[in-house]
Amino acid sequence: MDERFIINGGKTLNGEIYVDTSKNAFLPILAATILCDGLIILKDFVALSDIFCMCDILKILGIEIKLNGKELQIDTTNCHNGKITHEFTSRVRASIFTLGPLLARFRNAVIAYPGGCKIGARPIDIHIKAFKTLGVKIIERHGYLYCNADNLKSGEVVLDFPSVGATESLMMCACLLNGQTILKNVAKEPEIVDLQNFLNSMGAKVRGAGSDCITICGVKKLHGGYYQIMPDRIVAGTYLLAVATCGGDVTIHKAIQAHNESLISFLKQTACVLNINNDKIRVKAKKRLISIDKIQTFPYPFFPTDLQPQMMVLQSVSKGVSLIQENLFENRFGLVSELGKMGADIVVKDRTALVKGVEKLYGADVQASDLRAGASLVIAGIKAEGYTTIHNIEYIDRGYERIEEKYNLLGADIKRIKIE
Ligand code: EPZ
Repeated sequence: MDERFIINGGKTLNGEIYVDTSKNAFLPILAATILCDGLIILKDFVALSDIFCMCDILKILGIEIKLNGKELQIDTTNCHNGKITHEFTSRVRASIFTLGPLLARFRNAVIAYPGGCKIGARPIDIHIKAFKTLGVKIIERHGYLYCNADNLKSGEVVLDFPSVGATESLMMCACLLNGQTILKNVAKEPEIVDLQNFLNSMGAKVRGAGSDCITICGVKKLHGGYYQIMPDRIVAGTYLLAVATCGGDVTIHKAIQAHNESLISFLKQTACVLNINNDKIRVKAKKRLISIDKIQTFPYPFFPTDLQPQMMVLQSVSKGVSLIQENLFENRFGLVSELGKMGADIVVKDRTALVKGVEKLYGADVQASDLRAGASLVIAGIKAEGYTTIHNIEYIDRGYERIEEKYNLLGADIKRIKIE
């Protein structure tokens, strides 16, 4: 079924909004349940298609999953090994996060290459090299990894690049290995700290997440328990940029300042007004904002690649010229062609976009190319004069739960239509 958003634009956003639980924390934590023996309860479930895909993968492994209101109940009593086929891995990049737990628990795994948003080649060479360093034998054939971990043991791994997924998969794997594993040059994203907190609450001994070195002392087993996953910093950042772009006055609850320092610093340069206290941010934008000269994406704590498209929309209607450099993914300017249809003035060369701010955007017929580009087109549609139709909105549902309902409560006019 083809679904589309029809947006009647020219609206400002006003009121209060609550940030949902973090997709990019939820997904590795779901993979980590493979390590646990017993019942795990994850609170504040968020209905995202990527999370449902990950639950389907866990069910292949005999893990029973039930949604009880907003609590996700995960029973791993009958967890067993299983081949994770292309049919499942092609739907979600996070499928690769199950490799570490499978190797730790069952000492072998057969898993197809992961899919995910088409924002680049998204290789898994860093994952593979790291597991081989710990003694895993991996044969790659016809799009599958055949892994034998009889010789898997604790040790020291230095990542060639601070890959978020590789960091998470290795952290999980090391939890059940005898001895101490040291991971260096790791990613420092808040979702990795949340994964550490989850693992330790289930009996693991992980230290150092949030720094560039993580130490794991192996334990015999992990038990079950309750856990509250962190709020989604990328969704919070998306809402901040939506108000800055469309104008208005919105209080965003469960928006943690420490998770978005780089974005907040940029927004303060644009003349939008921010009132920040511990877990909520009020953002006011009453007039056309000033362009930010240069924006570069880098691993945390620098400006995140997952907010680059949303920032591009703000710069496309700001006063001045902005240079945006995307350093993480080689194909993350999918938004540019679609914004151009709406009147934006953006020129791309290699990994750099030159954005000349225009006074107005105009409604158009546009295609979402991936999750964050789709979420950015929604912001552009709310801002633009006239009607915008966004196709392929299934990309947006991967990372935003009923986004149209949330923006409509703030004064937007978005309809989700189903084309049979
Ligand atoms: C995670 O993806 C996030 N996904 C991405 O969010 C996010 O953009 C990315 O981290 C960077 O912050 C989840 O957490 C589910 P990486 P991941 O490994 O783990 C290269 C979203 O919109 N690389 O840190 O796949 C890779 O190609 C998504 O929510 C290798 O070369 O990201 C990229 O250029 C999109 N070899 C860079 O490293 C590898 O083995 C960062 O990738 C692994 C990665």
